[in-house]
Amino acid sequence: MAKTDALTREDPRYKEMFSVANEIAHGGGKLIDDPYPAFAALRAVSPVYKGCISEFLTGHAERQFTAGRPHHTTLTFDTCSKALMDNDLYSSLLYHETHGVVDNIGNTILSMIGNEHARYRAAAQPMMTRQQAMGWWREKWIEPFVAVLMHEIEAQPDGADLAFSLCARLPMHTVTAAYGLTSDEALEFRENLLGSMGPLLTPEQRATGKAKVRDVLLHAITARRRERRDDLISRLIEAPFTDAQGQASHLDDEAILSFSRLLLLAGGGTTYRQLGITLFALLSNRNQMEDLRADRELMQPAIEEAVRWNCTDPLFHRLATRDSVLGGVEIPEGTIVDVCLGAGNRDPERWDNPDAYDMHRAQKRHIGFAAGPHTCLGRFVAAAEMTVAINALLDRLPKLRLDDRGEPTKIIGALHARGVNHLRVRFD
Ligand code: HEM
Repeated sequence: MAKTDALTREDPRYKEMFSVANEIAHGGGKLIDDPYPAFAALRAVSPVYKGCISEFLTGHAERQFTAGRPHHTTLTFDTCSKALMDNDLYSSLLYHETHGVVDNIGNTILSMIGNEHARYRAAAQPMMTRQQAMGWWREKWIEPFVAVLMHEIEAQPDGADLAFSLCARLPMHTVTAAYGLTSDEALEFRENLLGSMGPLLTPEQRATGKAKVRDVLLHAITARRRERRDDLISRLIEAPFTDAQGQASHLDDEAILSFSRLLLLAGGGTTYRQLGITLFALLSNRNQMEDLRADRELMQPAIEEAVRWNCTDPLFHRLATRDSVLGGVEIPEGTIVDVCLGAGNRDPERWDNPDAYDMHRAQKRHIGFAAGPHTCLGRFVAAAEMTVAINALLDRLPKLRLDDRGEPTKIIGALHARGVNHLRVRFD
């Protein structure tokens, strides 16, 4: 593997970009303490709350939507699932109005609906299957990166902060390397990508970030059009694609550019937080961690249960395109539907003792990766990263435990991004 130094070296940008508190501050949001008791209290009254959940919790309207727009919030597994499954009625076209999404990333599968969404998604799907994640992604990038990171972690005699020495590094380097950029390009690329989006940045700062991202990606796409490699850019270039007229075709540069921005943003962001949450769940439930150490067949339930228990992005939004009734509550056309995945995932009608992390509970589908046509495209890659990282920690560090000196680890964040404040561990 080339240039592993960028993967492991000390660089202040890791702490800057992979800190939940910073992410919330840069997005112009406020930290929200454990929101689950409020979800439960509202859900006990009605499956759909007639209002905006963020406003209920913080007292402020959400800045990314036009002030004064009506909101309804789905709170049960059933109402959340229905809102996610029926993308015609509860539409992802809302992303076209969400600050920074389409204007900076481009029109991607996230903001497409219907046939267009299906055609574009089908082009990328084959490289994101469970088989590809546990084969191609795992062997080429995830395992080699985890080996290097573990070597560094084990060399720290007084323990390590896994939030920065592992979680911040593995997902970003995996997706950037799989995409086809070098490890050295990864940090600067992410800095520019985030710099193209922050609502608190000036338009000039955003334009500069956007132009740099475009340059790096276009340069890479042009190079791969000349000479293919075994990476995501080359696969996107080669991917069979059906155009709007139903003709067999290929993605053009603009489509590949937008796809790339989405994959690199989603791949480098969410998983670092979810890996931290999953490790925190295991480290604070030591008996279950030992069960997993003894029986790795429990890995998938352990990971899925962590996503159910505390999904890193508990809130997504849709636009009601017609009058409808959901959970017995009327939702007028034009309403913004706040789909509260976090509340749906703790619905006591579906899970006993839903606030507890329990990898041994009967496995049922959760909605931490959403549901329906927009179900997370990267879920198997995320699961492969978490699997390899957790296996390595369990294999190599028999005395792994939370470091109880100093500030305790806890989950912080807001409704669009939650993760651990730190993950200091000892293994001596
Ligand atoms: C554990 C980590 C992750 C979580 C919890 C997560 C969660 C989600 C959720 C909830 C959605 C649905 C968004 C919506 O419906 O509006 C989504 C979509 C998506 N995710 Fe993930 N994600 C994770 C990791 C990843 C990774 C690693 C990648 C790429 C390598 C990725 C790529 C995508 C893409 C491309 C979409 C859009 C799918 C579509 O609209 O059809 N995600 N993700």
